[in-house]
Amino acid sequence: MIDIHTHILPGVDDGSQDTGESLLMAEEAVAQGVQVMVATPHLRWEGAPLTASHIRQAVDEINELLQAKGISLQVLPGCEIPLSDELPERLASGEWMSLGDNGRTVLVEPPWHRWHTEHIAVLQRLVDADWTVVLAHPERHHVFQRNLPLLEELLAMGVHLQVTTGSLIAGRSNPASTRCAYQLLERQMVSLVASDCHNATSRQCDMGTARAILQRTCGRHIAQMLTEKVPAALLSGEKVELATIWQQNTVEPNRWMRFLRSILRRETDDG
Ligand SMILES: [Fe+2]
Repeated sequence: MIDIHTHILPGVDDGSQDTGESLLMAEEAVAQGVQVMVATPHLRWEGAPLTASHIRQAVDEINELLQAKGISLQVLPGCEIPLSDELPERLASGEWMSLGDNGRTVLVEPPWHRWHTEHIAVLQRLVDADWTVVLAHPERHHVFQRNLPLLEELLAMGVHLQVTTGSLIAGRSNPASTRCAYQLLERQMVSLVASDCHNATSRQCDMGTARAILQRTCGRHIAQMLTEKVPAALLSGEKVELATIWQQNTVEPNRWMRFLRSILRRETDDG
């Protein structure tokens, strides 16, 4: 599998705090069936924004360490960029890092509090400049949980939605995020699943666990698309159509909601 959203680089944001923790995260990801991870540190975290050259250097260092330790995980450079007015220009200039450093795809973090029409305008500028936009974890944002039509508007622009592994697993997220994640899957609005892992204990990779859930609910083909094929295509700079991802879906809609109810019940039972 390919995990396109991770905070495995040590000491640059609220993810891994040191190389020891990065190694634990890598071992857990490999055990979950991940072969390739994109390191996507927060662009802005205490201090000056991370530059593309800084990220490339940190990725080279972690890959050397993984090789020395015999851990078969490849880390690619990337970045999680907050949605801001300056984003299109900074990306175009190469100052800010694209996903996998491919110059075609960008991982965008939506705002956590308020959503403005200007945000849509920035996304439109990115799309018009031929960037493929991946919106990180919309299911975790209140503004989208209460307003799925807003996400439909973004989908119509060609924006891809990335749901987080933890939002699919009982006890790993809050019920509102879990409910929204399953609603998005039921409506076939999700392009890919990624971990957004921050450590090896409470916000770990869990890609294998999430894939097993996807296989049980929507079958082997869609599970492979969301965790492997679509991430690979987006990393290689290919254009992907949401309708194509879901065209072989054979799941009856009720199945998602039944599964969601069982997960929320388990959370309640677990206390
Ligand atoms: Fe993240």
